[in-house]
Amino acid sequence: MADYDYSVLLTQLGAEHHNRSPKSAAVHEEACRHLIDGGSHGIRLIEPFPPRITEATGGWMVDEDGHRILDLWQGHMANILGHNPQVVTTALSRAFAGGFGTQSGLVDALQAELAALVCRLTSSERIRFTTSGSLSTMYAVLMARSFTGRSTVMKAGGGWHGAQPMLLKGVAYREDGVGFEGVDSKGLPSALTDRIVVTSYNDPQRLVDDFNRGGDDMACLILEPMLGAGGTIAATTEYLRLARDLCTKHGALLILDEMITGFRFHAGGLGALHGVAPDLAIYGKALGGGMPVAAVAGRAEIMAEAGRATGPRVAFSGGTYSAHPSSMLAAKVFLEHLAGHESEIYPKLGTLGEAMRTGCEAAFAEAGILARCTGAVDEIDCGSSMVTVHFPHDQRVSLDTPEAVFDPDRCDIELREKVFGLALLVEDVHLILAHGAASTAHTDEDVAFLTDACRRAAARIARQR
Ligand SMILES: Cc1ncc(COP(=O)(O)O)c(C=O)c1O
Repeated sequence: MADYDYSVLLTQLGAEHHNRSPKSAAVHEEACRHLIDGGSHGIRLIEPFPPRITEATGGWMVDEDGHRILDLWQGHMANILGHNPQVVTTALSRAFAGGFGTQSGLVDALQAELAALVCRLTSSERIRFTTSGSLSTMYAVLMARSFTGRSTVMKAGGGWHGAQPMLLKGVAYREDGVGFEGVDSKGLPSALTDRIVVTSYNDPQRLVDDFNRGGDDMACLILEPMLGAGGTIAATTEYLRLARDLCTKHGALLILDEMITGFRFHAGGLGALHGVAPDLAIYGKALGGGMPVAAVAGRAEIMAEAGRATGPRVAFSGGTYSAHPSSMLAAKVFLEHLAGHESEIYPKLGTLGEAMRTGCEAAFAEAGILARCTGAVDEIDCGSSMVTVHFPHDQRVSLDTPEAVFDPDRCDIELREKVFGLALLVEDVHLILAHGAASTAHTDEDVAFLTDACRRAAARIARQR
């Protein structure tokens, strides 16, 4: 494996970014006086400093320095129609003008309408809204434990289920031989993660072995149908169906975390396209059409764990801003739009995603650098808008597990996570940790813009290696 030293290139890129973005640099410096690292979400804070955005429409955004930047990060991959889609902004503007939208702590008809819509689109029986995916996965795990009377929870290494304490294990890959078995935050009492078993994603034999070892004390298995932070790796149909069968056989619940995948491949969950019905599912990101809303949805008898009928057993309180009227309205008009235009939206997203993946790979190949994009879902015929760019050391590296994409012996992690993003940012393209997604607001011209930017970045990287 070639071990490249990118320090000179990173310094040059940082200086170039600073020279062309003095206003963002100044805002960042000021921000660091009061905000940890200058912001409120770690991964948005691209080093040495992120572009400070003043405006975002569709596939593009403008920063403090007046750069027009192609945005493929698209709100943590939440945006299906791009930033500020008119269908949502028009509905919100009308509502605000009519005195509806920022009242909170009340109940209204809107959340009932949205609940019915999401349940119909996702084949769920009951739903409760929250304000984040982290809260939703936390409540889902509590309900699974309460419903089954069991305590062990299984997740896959590389799976990110938000910053809720119980699942902050097995997220980051550690090179000291620990792999995905480590705990991912300081300050966590070990009692919170002791009963979390970490299995290997897309490894059917390991799943069978893990269930054989501890299946009868398993409350639930929580899985993303496509790993997001874990490398944008699609689960195979075989793996998801096996997960379903093993959960059923052992009396454990299957929780599908559809935060990224929900409404991104069709107007519903990705699990359904694999023919896999979860007991509970988590939705968010795209669900809100740009507004903060997430949800736990699933079988009525499990969701009843949060209800009054037998006493409030799981403290699924939702939170002060849960089912916020602006979010409910945005989600409703957005989902109605997705469902009503499914046959136009999803093929377009799939075509753009495929073009982005092949464009990036080809641009790097021209410079003699091997790049491989994950994000495709090979076994189902829905196309995929997702992309993460990897730099394997060798053609033979198979990028179907998070172990492969985070192992420095198999992939160039520094190039993917530090150099690539900055090299594209100075070309006015924004991705984070090489992750991106197409939206319907993107065009073939945008794909060409991305490909050209990759071509220049690749040439520059090749010159320095
Ligand atoms: C699969 C998955 N689950 C849960 C979460 C947490 O959601 P939130 O950031 O809304 O808390 C995320 C966020 O990126 C996610 O990708």
